[in-house]
Amino acid sequence: MITLKLASSLDGRIATAAGESRWITGPQAREAVHRLRAAHDAVLVGVETALADDPELTVRTPGFSGRQPARVVLDSRQRLADGCKLVAGAREIPTYVVATTPPEPRLVQAGVRVLTVPALGEDRPELKSVAAALAAEGLDSLLVEGGGQVAASFLRCGLVDAIEWFRAPMVIGGEGRPAVGALALTALSAAPRFRRIDVSLLGDDLWERYRRV
Ligand SMILES: NC(=O)c1ccc[n+]([C@@H]2O[C@H](COP(=O)([O-])OP(=O)(O)OC[C@H]3O[C@@H](n4cnc5c(N)ncnc54)[C@H](OP(=O)(O)O)[C@@H]3O)[C@@H](O)[C@H]2O)c1
Repeated sequence: MITLKLASSLDGRIATAAGESRWITGPQAREAVHRLRAAHDAVLVGVETALADDPELTVRTPGFSGRQPARVVLDSRQRLADGCKLVAGAREIPTYVVATTPPEPRLVQAGVRVLTVPALGEDRPELKSVAAALAAEGLDSLLVEGGGQVAASFLRCGLVDAIEWFRAPMVIGGEGRPAVGALALTALSAAPRFRRIDVSLLGDDLWERYRRV
């Protein structure tokens, strides 16, 4: 089960051109994201998000005492920085780097589990192999938290079962980073389609929930 979470402006941007993304949505939407994390085996981001935001990707709901989801970074060449929060916490919370190169000793020594998978285009991890490698680690449900390039890759492969879209009442403009990168569609009929199953208000934001058609 792969769920794509997006937190965007009205015009589908997840950050300014300079990469500033905190915060687009409000506290209630962010709390809902923490509940979504708690309901998945692992939370996954692309390395550009890990480098730009230095996220923890943990559940920080007050009173939460359950198991933290594993953290996964798609990082072909293992660019993840030594001093980042994901690496620093790797001994406490299972933290995976999915790469196309053999494990870097500096990451392994810090407790990061490096999975080497086959590459597809631009030498990036092929996502069906990623899903299989994570399932072999017991990680069957994934919450993909972006950024836009990773969101596009999962959609392109037809691997997204559900979308949780948090939309804030602001407009960032075309130079902002897109919630979904290039899909290389040649016809509208090839666009991935989803069925809206719920819409609710979270403070000033809208929470739209979709399932694969
Ligand atoms: N508002 C939000 O909810 C939200 C959420 C997340 C991120 N963001 C923002 O989004 C920005 C980063 O997004 P982004 O689109 O630039 O980058 P991204 O999707 O976070 O990361 C892309 C990188 O991941 C690596 N990667 C490995 N395997 C991949 C695959 N199969 N498909 C795609 N990428 C793969 C590639 O680097 P290698 O080739 O080196 O492996 C690629 O450059 C940041 O500014 C961040 O703040 C906002």
